[in-house]
Amino acid sequence: MAGEGTVYTTSAGQMEDDGWSLPGALWIEGDSLAPPCGSEPYVVQRILAVAALQPTDVVFDLGCGDGRVCIAAAEAAGCAAVGVELEDELVTKAHLQIEAKGLGELVQITQGDLLELDLSRATVLVIYLLPEAMELLKPKLVDCLRRGVRIISQQWSIKGFEPSQCIHEFVDGFNVLLNVYDGMGCIKEQQQVHA
Ligand SMILES: C[S@@+](CC[C@H](N)C(=O)[O-])C[C@H]1O[C@@H](n2cnc3c(N)ncnc32)[C@H](O)[C@@H]1O
Repeated sequence: MAGEGTVYTTSAGQMEDDGWSLPGALWIEGDSLAPPCGSEPYVVQRILAVAALQPTDVVFDLGCGDGRVCIAAAEAAGCAAVGVELEDELVTKAHLQIEAKGLGELVQITQGDLLELDLSRATVLVIYLLPEAMELLKPKLVDCLRRGVRIISQQWSIKGFEPSQCIHEFVDGFNVLLNVYDGMGCIKEQQQVHA
């Protein structure tokens, strides 16, 4: 977990190699609910596999960056995908990709605050956010589990929830950690009382 005042910077090398999204970005904890960094392509593929996507699914990525998870989901499963992202530059990048790939019918990405997004259409929820963000989202996450939405959280677990599956791999020097939640059984008793 990032400590208070954590600063993340991106180097040119990283940007070319792994798709970090904002050239020269400087992010200081408190700026937003997570730093602007994209999931590695390998991780994106793992997320899609774990989600076992069907064409009828609607994937939501909260804080979608350049839209890579949404785009990959639509390409792989032909399902709809919805993303919301705070950073204009990333939204523009996503829109260019969606247009170039002809995915406009399936993938919808908007600029805005993920806390405001209506999740009622979601069947799969993908999050790669700081633990504090997940606390703010907690009531919506509980509602999602109640409706049978599969939640995949990258890197951090959701406090008070018990993952039904926890995937931890070390690939190409990267730690990959995915926590999967599906169903109300993932909510610890105390949380259920307050839900
Ligand atoms: C760790 S990145 C993950 C990006 C993408 N989901 C992926 O896996 O490639 C988190 C993203 O959330 C965005 N973000 C942070 N706070 C946000 C907010 N309040 N509303 C929308 N997006 C936000 C950041 O700008 C960043 O692009």
